[in-house]
Amino acid sequence: MEDSHIELIEPPFDEKELQCWTYLDWVNWETIRDKVLKILEDYERLTSRHGITITSRHLPDLYERIDNEVPEIKDFLRSKGWEDGFADYAVVVIEPNGEFQKHSDGITKESGNCRILVPLSGTEGCSTIFWEPDQPAKKIVALSTDGTSMPFWSYTHANCYEITRFELDKPVLMHIAPCHEVENHTTGMRMNLWISFNSKVNLLPEIPYVETPIAKTKI
Ligand SMILES: [Fe+2]
Repeated sequence: MEDSHIELIEPPFDEKELQCWTYLDWVNWETIRDKVLKILEDYERLTSRHGITITSRHLPDLYERIDNEVPEIKDFLRSKGWEDGFADYAVVVIEPNGEFQKHSDGITKESGNCRILVPLSGTEGCSTIFWEPDQPAKKIVALSTDGTSMPFWSYTHANCYEITRFELDKPVLMHIAPCHEVENHTTGMRMNLWISFNSKVNLLPEIPYVETPIAKTKI
């Protein structure tokens, strides 16, 4: 496959401390949630199906609508000084009793290593869990729905120890390099919005360090 040689940055392994996630101080985020949900009423096929829709690539018209009709997103990024780093929106849907298995996202030199997650619906009772694996990640190249390759890192071969978890009940800034997993053990669809970044901004200093479990047991 032509672009299976995308050069990924190796996920952190054998670190004593990792940066995982933090809640964002975003006062009017419910306005964003309500406006995006209103737009998504016109995309029922998308919101009834498990998966990730990168809006600029898979549905450019949805990208344009979010960009034009929800200016509060860019207003927030501007207020933080993060607007130059904006890369894309995505809509993420996890079916009832569905999950995204333990993985690290495929990060390149050009892409950002953090992402903003905004809850849309059905996120109550769902967990995003960060894990410390006992073995390094293995690179996997998956195909996205538009046929382009989406490399990521897998941990199905490793034993993993929980570091921290959150329920997405308000916007979160998340580090996407450590091993993480999203579970939906509810009977409803779980839906959230991603705001992704390029490497022009470094959002990692916003996220506190936490001790990893294996390091803890070694003390
Ligand atoms: Fe991920």
